[in-house]
Amino acid sequence: MSTEPALPPGPRFTPLTTAQFARRPLDTLRRWHRRYGDVFTVRLLGFGTGVYVADPDAIRELFTGNQSDLLAGEANSILEPVVGKHSVLVLDGPEHLRQRRLLLPPFHGSRVAAFRSTVREVAEREVARWSPGERLVLRQRMRALTFEVICRAVFGVTDPARVERMRRALSAVIDSSPVLMASATLRRDLGPLSPGGRFARRLRAADALLYEEIAQRRGEPDLEERSDVLSLLLCARDDEGRAMTDAELRDELFTMLAAGHETTATGLTFALELLLRNPAKLERLRETGDERYANAVGKETLRVRPVIDAAERTLAAPRDVAGRRLPAGIKVYPGIALVHYREDLYPEPDEFRPERFLDDGAESYAWLPFGGGIRRCIGAALAELEMSEVLRVIASSVDLEPVRDTPDPVVLRGITLVPKHGVPVLVGAKRASVSGAAVVTG
Ligand code: HEM
Repeated sequence: MSTEPALPPGPRFTPLTTAQFARRPLDTLRRWHRRYGDVFTVRLLGFGTGVYVADPDAIRELFTGNQSDLLAGEANSILEPVVGKHSVLVLDGPEHLRQRRLLLPPFHGSRVAAFRSTVREVAEREVARWSPGERLVLRQRMRALTFEVICRAVFGVTDPARVERMRRALSAVIDSSPVLMASATLRRDLGPLSPGGRFARRLRAADALLYEEIAQRRGEPDLEERSDVLSLLLCARDDEGRAMTDAELRDELFTMLAAGHETTATGLTFALELLLRNPAKLERLRETGDERYANAVGKETLRVRPVIDAAERTLAAPRDVAGRRLPAGIKVYPGIALVHYREDLYPEPDEFRPERFLDDGAESYAWLPFGGGIRRCIGAALAELEMSEVLRVIASSVDLEPVRDTPDPVVLRGITLVPKHGVPVLVGAKRASVSGAAVVTG
């Protein structure tokens, strides 16, 4: 007789379940939540069996209770061929904490505030390249923009030719097919024309650039005065006074690019689409140019359009979660998207209302786009600053018109939620910002 505790109820496992989830992840998750309640089990092709949790108190317990039997690095191991074995994303336990402690200080809000002018500059240059009448896919433009922010703020690379070399070399690796990433067999280097051979060559080229940058920076006479993340990491020491090795630095640079570039670009794309579909909110941002309102737009965007629908922890030992005993080996998903649509926390949850975040800010366990606890997103302050500053620049300097009549459907791509078509728009009139007020120039 089995002594395994029974898993909470949930939808039946059929290929259709996975297809529904990938095609309309937000609607599907919300339907399951309504049907099965705050704790339900889902089996999905390619993801295995996991238990979603939509109760903020149970999520608080998961994020703040005993962490020794919760694994997160293992879930990210698919990224290891790119981010490397020292990456904070793939480690667990004391090794994870050591890397995390080294990485956190450069991303503290007070440090990140210094990047505001860099973000503004990059955004202004991006918008200056747009011509009235041109058709753009916003997600592509936002990817280029967030790549450049990472290059400058995190890597400390500002020379345009070098930024371009980095973009080409690193994108070639980051954009590798998920199938290749998932399969060690496909990644085997079977000669220059094989997929594995191509991947290995691209990885070597990207690594060469990163190691060159690290070596060059180490020798810079002004290293201790610089504010970019790489320079700060070169000066950082762990509890035992040890500096980070070149291999660790390389892995964390790739990690920050992999974790921080697409996610922020997607968040920005969602925000722009929501503003374009809610003209009164766009007008408010445009008229006031207010940093506080822009922050609230970013927060409300990540509530209704969380880029990641759930955090993930694997239980290394049985654990009580939301009043149920769950067995070791099971995955638990703190349901970011589910909490964000709770009526008791957010009345009329489908409405896009940045005003919700103007007075009270965001409650830790009611607003979770960056996950929580000892795995909470390291780049959260940078991502929020980037979103608010880029939105202010775009709102005040250009008119955009969505090409599609209806909002872009939210679909699952890899592990992120994205607008299916990337939000195509037509560029309208350019505006010249005069002491905060927007003036249409034709
Ligand atoms: C809107 C943009 C972003 C979103 C929505 C986002 C979301 C997330 C989420 C949900 C996690 C997992 C948290 C958990 O498991 O509890 C995470 C982890 C992480 N994020 Fe972000 N992120 C964003 C931007 C960034 C940026 C800009 C960076 C760095 C430059 C970054 C670096 C990381 C790292 C290093 C981790 C792993 C932390 C750890 O395992 O200790 N992210 N992010």
